[in-house]
Formats: sequence, C-alpha cells, structure tokens
Amino acid sequence: MTLVSKGLSDAICFQISHEQHNAKIYLYLAGVLKGKGMDNLAKIFEKQWLEELDHSKKFFDLLTDMGIVPFLPETPEVNTRFTNIVEIGRTFLEREIVTTQSIGALKRLAIEEDNPVVEQVMRQMLALQQQEYEESTSFFDKAQLLTEWWQVALWDASLK
Ligand SMILES: [Fe+2]
Repeated sequence: MTLVSKGLSDAICFQISHEQHNAKIYLYLAGVLKGKGMDNLAKIFEKQWLEELDHSKKFFDLLTDMGIVPFLPETPEVNTRFTNIVEIGRTFLEREIVTTQSIGALKRLAIEEDNPVVEQVMRQMLALQQQEYEESTSFFDKAQLLTEWWQVALWDASLK
C-alpha cells in the first residue's frame, strides 16, 4: 500500500533540497551583510534562514508521515559576489518567485495524481509565500532607493 507515487515523493524530496538551498542562500546573504557591518539587516536573513529550514522540515514530515524515507539531494555551493544592496534584494525576491513556482508545480502534480493530502499541504505551503513576498518585495523596494553602502548603513542603523 503506497500513499504517494514514486514520482510525486521524489519531487517532494527535491523540494526539501530546494528549501535547504534557500536556507543556504539566506545564511550566505546574512554573512555578506555582516561583512559590510550591516548586522541589523543581516538579522532579516538569519530569520529567513530559520524559516527555510522549517519549510524543508515540513516537506520532510509530509513524506515520513506517508511512510516514505526521504532522500536528500545535494544543494549547490553559494558563493556569489554582490556589489550593491539591490542585487541582494533581487536575489531574495527572485528566489521566492522560483520557490512559489516550484511548489505550484508540486500542487499540479498532486492534483493530476489525485492525491488530496499532498495537494492540501502544497496549498498550505503556497499560503506561506504571501508573507515571503511581503518581506522580499519590501526589502527590494527599499534597496532600490539606496545606491551607496553608506545609505544602506543608515537603513541598517534605523533597524536597531
Ligand atoms: Fe521556503
């Protein structure tokens, strides 16, 4: 008796690693900002890092609850050079857009395979993306106003 197809459970395993990759990207961005002395802005990404680890655990739990032992695909190295805050903001927003698309594809697959439990969890995960969009668009909007690091330092100081 299987509660989820091999194809769908494999796709969820890749989503676990997608979320773990998000976590890596955000921890890396926290490090980049700390390297510029922007410890308060770095905290935004430290929080994102924890949230992404929590998301990866939710996909993991979905599989183990259905009796699957998940495999954990490799995640790529994160070592991008950033020259300004706009690139950091764009990376944040783009990653959330890609994540929404990826979960949306899982939801479609669950519907195709008539797996309502997985479908419902995907809807719950998609609902979390509204908050992620709020945080990433807000960050990106502010970043676009700031062309110099000293301006970013004022933003950082305002967050104390
Ligand atoms: Fe996530």
